[in-house]
Amino acid sequence: IALASAGAHAQTFPSRPITVIVPFAAGGPTDTVARLVAESMTKTLGQQVIVENVGGAGGTRGAGQVAKATPDGYTLLLHHIGQATAPSLYRKLPYKVTDFETAGLITPVPMTLIAKPGFEPKTIADVITYVKANKEKVTYGNAGVGSASHLCGMLFMAATGTPLTTVPYQGTGPAMNDLVGGQIDLMCDQTTNTTGQIKGGKVKAYAVTTKDKVPSLPDLPTLQASGLKDFEVTIWHGLYAPKGTPADVVAKLNQALGVALDDPKVASRFADLGTEPEAKNRRSPEFHKQFLTDEVAKWKPVIEAAGVYAD
Ligand code: MLT
Repeated sequence: IALASAGAHAQTFPSRPITVIVPFAAGGPTDTVARLVAESMTKTLGQQVIVENVGGAGGTRGAGQVAKATPDGYTLLLHHIGQATAPSLYRKLPYKVTDFETAGLITPVPMTLIAKPGFEPKTIADVITYVKANKEKVTYGNAGVGSASHLCGMLFMAATGTPLTTVPYQGTGPAMNDLVGGQIDLMCDQTTNTTGQIKGGKVKAYAVTTKDKVPSLPDLPTLQASGLKDFEVTIWHGLYAPKGTPADVVAKLNQALGVALDDPKVASRFADLGTEPEAKNRRSPEFHKQFLTDEVAKWKPVIEAAGVYAD
């Protein structure tokens, strides 16, 4: 009986559309990854996989909504490194990291330090000199405390010892509009959102945040090579279901996610955007669970040292 019931859910799952909550505004990097993956999963699962944007509080509003959803596999969360930093940034978080089932890692994404068109500094070294001289006069766009752009900005301010003026948005999609329009000076955002603007000459690009250069943005030096020696941040994305979602349903979602990551169309779109599907040996729900635990532990001391809290 136990075996039969264990597999029972997945036999009929999914029997209706699935909602994937992206905890940031449409048009940003998380949304871009989600829509690519959702399109492929719709085909594999035979039901609409619908992306719903729920912005606010650096991604924690959308995550909190999924943490409280019915654990039946029909409400999922697609989130990034913010799932690991929020527990240290928010002392009154309305959910715990353990309120989710991990359904698999998706894609590791480099970040780029970019500025409004016409920003004065020419090189990343000039930017560092400029922010040290101008401090709060320099505005920095992000998607709220807990977002990837917030984490990168926090690391940049700590590494340069400069307090920039932060301008928070519902996502770096809208933030990018203001950067291109010259309303804000600087932003650190994922290549999935910045590659098009950089190649289109709409923003000034200075460096990448990864240890190695990004092949699709060969002209950009790394921040490490530019003097910010320990600066390294790669944004990773994962799929989650509410805790208590049956394991065989999670397994079916994880399997459909794997098909998406093996889809040549998804892989080539990822490559255009400076990223790639997660390596095959890192795609299981169990690997994702351990990786998330390790990331929470990794970022806790970094956030405490920076002394940045949301509440
Ligand atoms: C977004 O999707 O808007 C970004 O991931 C927000 C962020 O984390 O900076």
